[in-house]
Amino acid sequence: MYSRIAGTGRYLPEKVLTNFDLERMVDTSDEWIRTRTGIERRHIAAEDQTTSDLALEASRRALEAAGIEASDIDLIVVGTTTPDQLFPNVACLLQDKLGIGGMPAIAVEAACSGFLYALSTADKFVRLGEARRALVVGAETLSRITDWKSRDTCVLFGDGAGAVVLEASETPGILATRLGADGHFKDILYVPTGVSRRKPPPGETADQTIQMRGNEVFKVAVKKLGGIAEDILERTGTPKSELDWLIPHQANIRIIQATAKRLEIPMDRVVLTVQDHGNTSAASVPMALDVAIRDGRVQRGQMVLLEGFGGGLTWGAALLRY
Ligand code: UT7
Repeated sequence: MYSRIAGTGRYLPEKVLTNFDLERMVDTSDEWIRTRTGIERRHIAAEDQTTSDLALEASRRALEAAGIEASDIDLIVVGTTTPDQLFPNVACLLQDKLGIGGMPAIAVEAACSGFLYALSTADKFVRLGEARRALVVGAETLSRITDWKSRDTCVLFGDGAGAVVLEASETPGILATRLGADGHFKDILYVPTGVSRRKPPPGETADQTIQMRGNEVFKVAVKKLGGIAEDILERTGTPKSELDWLIPHQANIRIIQATAKRLEIPMDRVVLTVQDHGNTSAASVPMALDVAIRDGRVQRGQMVLLEGFGGGLTWGAALLRY
């Protein structure tokens, strides 16, 4: 038994923040942001919009695309770093908003790799016969943990949600997923405070906002993303030349270009949304997938590689026949 993608959806909050808006907020320029990151604009959630609200809209669209009702779902897995509240988890809140209940509702926290972790988890349930239709979501309100006074980070992030309906299928579908993490890199991309650590560690004044040593993250990202992609292709016996689309985490166009080069995939076979969405963490891969399915680039039967990378450090990939 395999799992296959039956439908996708995405939701972006209405408010758009452009690089020119940011020029008025911090000492930066549209030129710097575009050339160093590829980002031109990002969406920001309204004050009363929570992560589960964004997840709900994306989920409704994915359910519609799959041609099923919320009540047909028998598993929910949500990847997020920015949950509405400590508990109930976002998957439970989403379940309630969808008007359904009873099925497991799992929240996965793996920063920007959250969707790949969620997808890999749901895929296992389906393969083992424990779920037939799973709703898998990546949703974030990163604007809530962004330091809007720091040009080092505030130009990078955005809000949004992407959702996928997975269904059981005798033919693939998802061919393989690979996940990895290395907690030794905990100090190069992190939020210093949380629940049981209420005060920042000694020597740090940072509050509950994203801290990043961008250069170091960049280097590890390029290495790990290239490595995991080659690994998953090798394990499934798939030549690089068979890949139709690369849909990577949208953090920085230069990281994406470096990964594509290593995989020998031309950039016109890489789905790019970083210019419009910025880095939306766990939401970036499912939103990019939805964009490329809805605009007709990704076609049924094509081979697609999804990749994510983020705080932890964590990374993940999924190879699938759409
Ligand atoms: O999604 C999770 C994973 N996250 C990532 O993958 C992010 C990975 N890292 C990156 O994308 C890049 O490292 C950044 C986009 C964050 C930074 O780009 P960079 O080319 O590595 O720049 P840098 O940090 O080396 O900074 C270069 C210069 C510095 O000035 P000096 O020291 O050369 O005078 C910075 O102060 O650019 C300056 N700078 C800025 N200038 C204008 C940093 N941020 C800005 C800014 N506007 N927003």
